[in-house]
Amino acid sequence: MSTSSQPAEPVARVQPRFAADTAERGAPPTPGPSAGEGIGLDGAEPPRRRRGQEHGDGRRGAGEQRTTGIHATAIAEPASTPTFAVISGAQVQRVLAGREDQVVEVIDDAYRLHCFGSGTENPRSCFLRLPDRPSCRITALPASIGGQVGVDGVKWISSFPGNVAAGLPRASGVLILNDHDTGYPFACMEGSIISATRTAALAALAADWLGCARPRPTRVGFFGAGLIARYIHTYLVGTGWSFDETGVYDLAPDSVAGFRGYLERSGAAGRITAYPDAETVIRASDLVVFATNAGRPHVRDLSWFEHNPLVLHMSLRDLAPEIVLASVNIVDDVEHCLTADTSMSLAERLAGNRDFLHGTLDDVMDGRVSLPVDRPLVFSPFGLGVLDVVLGKHVYDEVVRSGELHVVDDFFHEVQRYASGDRVLHPGCPTS
Ligand SMILES: NC(=O)c1ccc[n+]([C@@H]2O[C@H](COP(=O)([O-])OP(=O)(O)OC[C@H]3O[C@@H](n4cnc5c(N)ncnc54)[C@H](O)[C@@H]3O)[C@@H](O)[C@H]2O)c1
Repeated sequence: MSTSSQPAEPVARVQPRFAADTAERGAPPTPGPSAGEGIGLDGAEPPRRRRGQEHGDGRRGAGEQRTTGIHATAIAEPASTPTFAVISGAQVQRVLAGREDQVVEVIDDAYRLHCFGSGTENPRSCFLRLPDRPSCRITALPASIGGQVGVDGVKWISSFPGNVAAGLPRASGVLILNDHDTGYPFACMEGSIISATRTAALAALAADWLGCARPRPTRVGFFGAGLIARYIHTYLVGTGWSFDETGVYDLAPDSVAGFRGYLERSGAAGRITAYPDAETVIRASDLVVFATNAGRPHVRDLSWFEHNPLVLHMSLRDLAPEIVLASVNIVDDVEHCLTADTSMSLAERLAGNRDFLHGTLDDVMDGRVSLPVDRPLVFSPFGLGVLDVVLGKHVYDEVVRSGELHVVDDFFHEVQRYASGDRVLHPGCPTS
């Protein structure tokens, strides 16, 4: 990743590694997992086990190597029992912590694969609203990755802002991975770390590309100072950014104090300033990170942005549509970003068109759009399930490799269509 403070060179697009292969083979693009070589996506095996490959506990795996054709062989010999593993947050953290550069590579590849236009499915998120708890929601983000990787999955993540007052993080979740060939879920893992990590990794990736268009920011301001702000700071620093000044603004004094403590411990924040209001943190920062839990726009004064900062609008609903319309806007995915009452969707409604969108991060990486420097530059990522599933699969692979996969015995119990002789169930008979 570039760390230059020079204005942008013409952007040379690095083609997704798997996309290049695809062009040659005429097959869908396939990010490979990383077995044996760190965390990159290229050139590896699917995460699921192959027939005959044993778990550490001696049981056989569920999956069939797809290239051999599972449907043909399933007729000849019965499928082995699918297995199901649980991966804790501590295990997820052990795999990911301190590997910011490598995780950004994984996210970079997964994002480009998504933008490549085939080989992934990333339907819109499904929001479960809770009328009796209107500030809360639980969201499902399903995704599928084809090709050699061949894994499907879903992130199921809660947002309960009231948790923070009780000393718990706002978000909690799980990630389920499904076997490509059988559909059987094969792993459930703690999802909030994966979610925060993929969010921060994409933010760092975007900052790197978008930061090239103007003098590299040295004064960062965090507007909203919760868990996502902490992960983004970690990822910026972990991928080569350094700051002379770090500003913090949050409505909650506890959040300011907690984030400040984290910044001091990180030793990578430069001078730390807690700002008393929204205007001063924005004016004092040439990189502004919005990570609030605001449900509707609360920043309305365009003059606060007259120094044309780079804005990572991670929380998506802070900026008034008028500010969006006056900015250069880059998103991760157009259709996703223009939903769910984001500031982008409000801007579309106000303008009656999408002309205010300059393009996607992929467009920037590919050199298809230029980035004017005479306006604020706003990156609004909706957050894509495909990133969660790819990163989750990577975590799964690494845990398998470490020999620490905890398989739940007999999780899938009813695995023969007509049952075996000793397991025939007779309705109404409690002893059967
Ligand atoms: N775009 C993505 O891919 C993505 C992914 C994950 C999370 N997020 C978003 O990131 C945001 C932050 O998540 P988190 O887990 O850090 O939440 P959090 O609850 O830990 O922190 C949010 C902070 O924002 C503060 N805040 C709320 N309204 C504010 C306002 N008007 N001005 C200043 N501060 C305000 C709160 O006091 C709180 O400290 C959420 O909106 C979440 O939906 C986005």
